[in-house]
Amino acid sequence: MAAGAAGRRDPEPGPAGEKRILCVGLVCLDIISVVEAYPAEDSDTRCVSQRWQRGGNASNSCTVLALLGAPCAFMGSLAPGLAADFVLADLRRYGVDVGLAVPQAGGSLPASVVIASASRGTRTILHAHGAASGSRTIVLYDTNLPEVTARDFERVDLSQYKWIHWEARNAAEQAAMMRRVERHNRARPPAEWVRTSVEVEKPRAELLPLMGLGHVVRGGAGAGPGGGAGRGRGSGAGVGDPGPGHRGVQGRGAGAGLEQAGPVFISKDVAQHFGYRSAPEALQGLRSRVQPGATLICAWAEAGADAVGPGGELVHSDAFPPETLVDTLGAGDTFNAAVIFALSAGRSLQDALTFGCQIAGRKCGIQGFDGIV
Ligand code: FRU
Repeated sequence: MAAGAAGRRDPEPGPAGEKRILCVGLVCLDIISVVEAYPAEDSDTRCVSQRWQRGGNASNSCTVLALLGAPCAFMGSLAPGLAADFVLADLRRYGVDVGLAVPQAGGSLPASVVIASASRGTRTILHAHGAASGSRTIVLYDTNLPEVTARDFERVDLSQYKWIHWEARNAAEQAAMMRRVERHNRARPPAEWVRTSVEVEKPRAELLPLMGLGHVVRGGAGAGPGGGAGRGRGSGAGVGDPGPGHRGVQGRGAGAGLEQAGPVFISKDVAQHFGYRSAPEALQGLRSRVQPGATLICAWAEAGADAVGPGGELVHSDAFPPETLVDTLGAGDTFNAAVIFALSAGRSLQDALTFGCQIAGRKCGIQGFDGIV
């Protein structure tokens, strides 16, 4: 098992010195009740089964990365208490490095009560009025624990990581973390760059500026074949200030000088919040919010996923629904992790999107995550 003791600050390198993927965001306890049909309000019913499961987007993505075989680490806040002991032990069980988890002195570990509607053998998730199949209804309490700060992030030895993924939460602090990575990258040759990605899942106004940050590093003159392409900052309305001297990150591109920059993932919820009715529509409409050269990805449940790549190319993958929808909790986190896994291994955007949909589809056919590979 790769995990170290809680509070350890310097994770050991992965197997054979392999760099890790770090996910920054939420870990919580999910108390999941599987029901045959979604209950009516104020009713008293039995469920089919019940379990505790470690949850939270970043934590779920770590589970998936670990199952896919990628050395990975989790960074997020932990409250004292039994629930935190449970999630910590579970992260370790999957071999996720927890040396960067931030113990908080007070507060309570975020927890979700999840009602998971058992499948009726259909491939469609019908969210309306309890006719659902494989649907998950989440009620989360996560406002009683301080978030990880940019100061906490100072302790991260960036040279240990090849990719850092943020689940958008406390945007201002996270923006500062991303800027630290950008500074790190600018001072180093492309082979040492840390690639980054961000997921904006919740349609909260304060999170949206993160879409415009931290994913494209452009090397200075001579920094590599992709260096000095000279594209400017994103011009999109609402894009946060990337900070003085900001330049995006651009990988070692061939030919055109653009590699897939670490992506921005936006959820169907965010897309719908802006009034878009499909992933391609959302990409078209929201593209101005990411920097030129960044990849924007939007998964849309049974419609699969779409992306716009660094050169503006549109990519699509159909969904791969299981025969029977069993459990969709964490399907989006699974998709993100699988896409990051594939991109970090140098696969094309099309391959990564298809892989993401395949693994997410498999996840929807099982309870929890064991069995996605
Ligand atoms: C799934 C999930 C759950 C958690 C909730 C938090 O994506 O991470 O594990 O309860 O979302 O929003």
